[in-house]
Amino acid sequence: MTIAGLAGSLREASFNKALLAACGELAPAGMTIEPHTLHGVPPFNEDDEKQGTPEAVERLRAAVRGADALLVATPEYNAGVPGVLKNAIDWLSRPAGRSALQAKPVAVLGVSPGTLGTARAQAHLRAAFEFNACPVLPSPQVFVGGARDKFDATLRLTDEKTRAFVAKFLVAFDVWVRKNAAPAR
Ligand code: FNR
Repeated sequence: MTIAGLAGSLREASFNKALLAACGELAPAGMTIEPHTLHGVPPFNEDDEKQGTPEAVERLRAAVRGADALLVATPEYNAGVPGVLKNAIDWLSRPAGRSALQAKPVAVLGVSPGTLGTARAQAHLRAAFEFNACPVLPSPQVFVGGARDKFDATLRLTDEKTRAFVAKFLVAFDVWVRKNAAPAR
């Protein structure tokens, strides 16, 4: 099972990239998580869309189409999804009627230094995926707060309780992806 991984941060030392990397380590046997970047994805503009698809968007669409499912680690910005991530989802959802996201199984998680652990951003993100008919893993939900105490200086997730919970989440995702396999597109 191949999972396309997206972290909604362009930051080099992103906790969400680090959480996605931890998912790669903790995935159950048979699940491979391939992280993809949002670097180079331009701001979505319907006028530009008519001129052709930017290379970074083509790459991202192909990665999502070719994967069995999508795993998204989102930061929270101003109580919602960061613009770069929402922008990438807008590109992925096009052209209308041929969305790369259509019916793709999805799971979301996120980490922040604050206490809410991206709860508001994840709710916002779920709505965007549900709009694309994506079956979004309902539970467990992973909200990692207090990031600075849970990762070491090399950005390895070291908090054992969080590691165990993420592992459990990935097992549930594995079952969810098998149950909700998207038709080939
Ligand atoms: C934040 N941050 C933040 N955190 C949070 O828990 N809720 C929020 O609403 C916000 N809002 C917010 C807005 C903006 C513009 C920035 C730059 C930051 C803090 C945020 O969680 C923190 O910077 C994370 O480290 C970002 O995720 P990455 O880049 O580490 O993955």
